[in-house]
Amino acid sequence: MPSRPVKALLAVEPGVDAEHVQESLPSDEDFKVVAVVSGADEALRWLRDSAADLLFVACAGYSDRALLLLDAVARQNPEVNVMVLGQGSPNGFLRRAFEAGADDIVMLPATPEQVRFEVHKLLARKQGDETPMISEHSKLVCVLGPKGGTGKTLTATNLSVCLAQRGEKVALIDLDLQFGDVALCLGLPPERTVYDLAQSPGALDADKLDAFLATHSSGVRTLIAPRRPDQASAVGAELLREVYSILRASYDWVIVDTPPGFTAEVITSIDSATHVV
Ligand SMILES: Nc1ncnc2c1ncn2[C@@H]1O[C@H](COP(=O)(O)OP(=O)(O)O)[C@@H](O)[C@H]1O
Ligand SMILES: [Mg+2]
Repeated sequence: MPSRPVKALLAVEPGVDAEHVQESLPSDEDFKVVAVVSGADEALRWLRDSAADLLFVACAGYSDRALLLLDAVARQNPEVNVMVLGQGSPNGFLRRAFEAGADDIVMLPATPEQVRFEVHKLLARKQGDETPMISEHSKLVCVLGPKGGTGKTLTATNLSVCLAQRGEKVALIDLDLQFGDVALCLGLPPERTVYDLAQSPGALDADKLDAFLATHSSGVRTLIAPRRPDQASAVGAELLREVYSILRASYDWVIVDTPPGFTAEVITSIDSATHVV
C-alpha cells in the first residue's frame, strides 16, 4: 500500500449520478479523489497528462463504453489500478469487465468503508504480485474479508488442507487473535497457542516454533489463536514477522486466516504476503 495518499480518478459514465457515486467513496487524508471526469475520452486524456494510483469507472448496468475505456486504459496506462463501480444487474458485464482489464468490481450501493476495504485489498494484492518471493517454493497467502461470517476461515482451512493433501508443506496461522476458530474447524485441541509462543522466554528459531504448531491429520501445521480474547494483545507485529520468515524458509505455503477489518497484525501480514485473497 502506498504510504502517501491514494490518488483516484473517478470516470462517470452517462446515466450515472456522479454525486451519488462520490458519497460511496472514502475521503480523508489517506484517500483522495483528485478529479471527476465524464466518459472515456476525458478519462484517457486526464490519464495522459496526470498520474493516478486508481481509476474508478462508475457505470449503470451493461456498458460497452465502459468496456472500451477499460481496454484503452489497460493499454495506455497499465500501471493504473482499475476498479469498476457497478449498479443494477449487469448481466454478463462483470466477466467482460474483468476480461477488458478491470482489477476489481464493487457493486453500489456500498459504504465508503466497504469501498476503502476493497481498495486496500486491491492495492495489497498488486503489491504482493510485485514482491519478490523469498524462494520460489514459498508463498504466504493472506485471507482477508471486511466482515465476520464471510468465509475467511473456511477458505483458509480448506485451502490449507487441500494443499497438504496434494503433498505440499503447509503452515496455517490463525490471526483472528480474539475469536479465532481455526482449531475448532480442524478439530484440534488448543494445547499450545500463539499466546504461549509470545510468552515463552528466549529467542525464536525454527525448532522452538515447531513445538508450538499443532498437527492436523492432513499434515497441515497450525499456529492456534489464543484461548482467551484478553490474550490477543500479547501477540505483536514483530513476533509475526519473525514467525513468517522462519516458516517461509521451510514451508511451501504459509496461509494466514485473519479477523474482520485491518488490525495492525493484519497489515503486517499483508506486507509479508505474496498473495492476498
Ligand atoms: N461458501 C460457503 N457456503 C456455505 N457456507 C459457508 C460458505 N463459506 C462459509 N460458510 C459458513 O459460514 C460460516 C462463517 O464462515 P467463516 O469461514 O467462519 O467466516 P469468517 O472466518 O469470515 O468469519 C461458517 O459456518 C461456514 O461454514
Ligand atoms: Mg474467521
